[in-house]
Amino acid sequence: MKVTFAKPETPSQGAYAVGVQEGRKLSAAAAQAEKATKGAVARALNASRFKGGKDEQLIVLAPQGLDVSRLILVGFGNPAKLTALDCEAIGGRLVAALNHAGDREGTIAIESPAGSTLSEAEIAARIAMGARLRAYRFDKYRTKEKPEHKPTLKKLTITLGDPHAAKKLFDPLDKVVDSVIVTRDLVSEPANVIYPETLAREAGELTSLGVKVSVLGEKEMKRLGMGALLGVGQGSERESQLVTMQWNGAGDSKAKPVCFVGKGVTFDTGGISIKPAAGMEDMKWDMGGSAVVIGVMRALAARKAKVNAVGVIGLVENMPSGNAQRPGDIVTSMSGQTIEVLNTDAEGRLVLADALWYAQENFGPSLIVDLATLTGAIMVALGTEHAGLFSNDDALSEKLTAAGKATGELLWRMPLAPAYDRLIDSPAADMKNIGGRYGGSITAAQFLQRFIQKGTPWAHLDIAGVTWSDKDKPTIPKGATAFGVRLLEQFVQREFEDK
Ligand code: BES
Ligand code: MN
Ligand code: ZN
Repeated sequence: MKVTFAKPETPSQGAYAVGVQEGRKLSAAAAQAEKATKGAVARALNASRFKGGKDEQLIVLAPQGLDVSRLILVGFGNPAKLTALDCEAIGGRLVAALNHAGDREGTIAIESPAGSTLSEAEIAARIAMGARLRAYRFDKYRTKEKPEHKPTLKKLTITLGDPHAAKKLFDPLDKVVDSVIVTRDLVSEPANVIYPETLAREAGELTSLGVKVSVLGEKEMKRLGMGALLGVGQGSERESQLVTMQWNGAGDSKAKPVCFVGKGVTFDTGGISIKPAAGMEDMKWDMGGSAVVIGVMRALAARKAKVNAVGVIGLVENMPSGNAQRPGDIVTSMSGQTIEVLNTDAEGRLVLADALWYAQENFGPSLIVDLATLTGAIMVALGTEHAGLFSNDDALSEKLTAAGKATGELLWRMPLAPAYDRLIDSPAADMKNIGGRYGGSITAAQFLQRFIQKGTPWAHLDIAGVTWSDKDKPTIPKGATAFGVRLLEQFVQREFEDK
């Protein structure tokens, strides 16, 4: 689907959407449509419960007096309360409605309602962003879908007084959407297609945007002493990989980089501590954290962000085999700390232990954020509405939480404390890779913290509950969400660029 901005003009084909505020207050375009249709808008309003709320739509089919398939009254709610995220949702719902109705083309007329803090161009750009986010579909393997079931919408035109201003605002947002789509695609791909080497190759695509990408194989990692990461991958036929992506966009090329680290378990069977069959297919998206890091790095490079950023992703496949790691094995991590692996299904933290250490040793980052589909326990605690945030730094936590609110990717802070840390002490090694029965997402985070060097601000996002959506949301179709790409892109913008 293509989105374009144009000067106001009533369309002569496709669907036509016009705004209505709370209390059924018609926008100028809606009033014009009311006139052109000799009162069809008022008649439809009288026959419905539509009030103009920001999540409402009312469809008037084939109205006389307009050459359109349908006139869609789109609620914009209370203009004083209208946010950028509301506009994205409006754009997303519009795309869903047009695809549902079978329209190939649609036009939406924008005018900034009196009392809104958003300009017309901002409203238009955000509607465009939401439209593109919702139009996403992962259908490359569906060769036999009936045409009448396929999405129909090819073109969405957004009309406003200054289309150039909207285009200018949309340009960086458009690049973020492209990156969200890359992440969603990677997360959606099955594990026979995306495994460590192929995911490393996909990360390598970022070189075309000016990102420096380097890949370590098992031999190099062995030399570096990454026994924790390598132990997880040792049961797989696929070679483990560690990928580094560097974007140097800051004025000062020597400025310490911000660092993102991602869990990239391309399939998690659990290993010898094997998972039950039901639902195991979900573990193709256990590389979600690494796909988000690829997406964030891509977004920063695409819009030439003025920041130095490094992405490090640890890529492994967790399989049972004659060569697989056994429960009880003791491995030595790159940090030198030893780990008793009591459960081979608690593998993400083992991968991150070495990836985090590698990032700190090589890049001396100003701060680190890691992302991982780390625990089922975070889903028990927070469900699918918030990701878990664990951090050793209050200011960093607040900034990440704020960036999350601004992008609709919500975080909820969880505790860290010495009493939890003691739960992973082991009599046989420096630590064990599981805690007790309770607080599973916290003991996992405590484990990661043992690999954070003194003085490094660090945050861990447990995204197990938010990486995949079981239902359609206004700007997120069912499936891979790419949760984290927008949040971290926004965080970088606020923290390193807007000052
Ligand atoms: N990848 C899983 C966590 C997960 C579960 C992500 C469901 C998304 C959906 C992780 O590697 C795992 O298996 N964690 C175990 C840890 C346990 C063995 C301590 C878990 O959460 O059950
Ligand atoms: Mn696991
Ligand atoms: Zn896992």
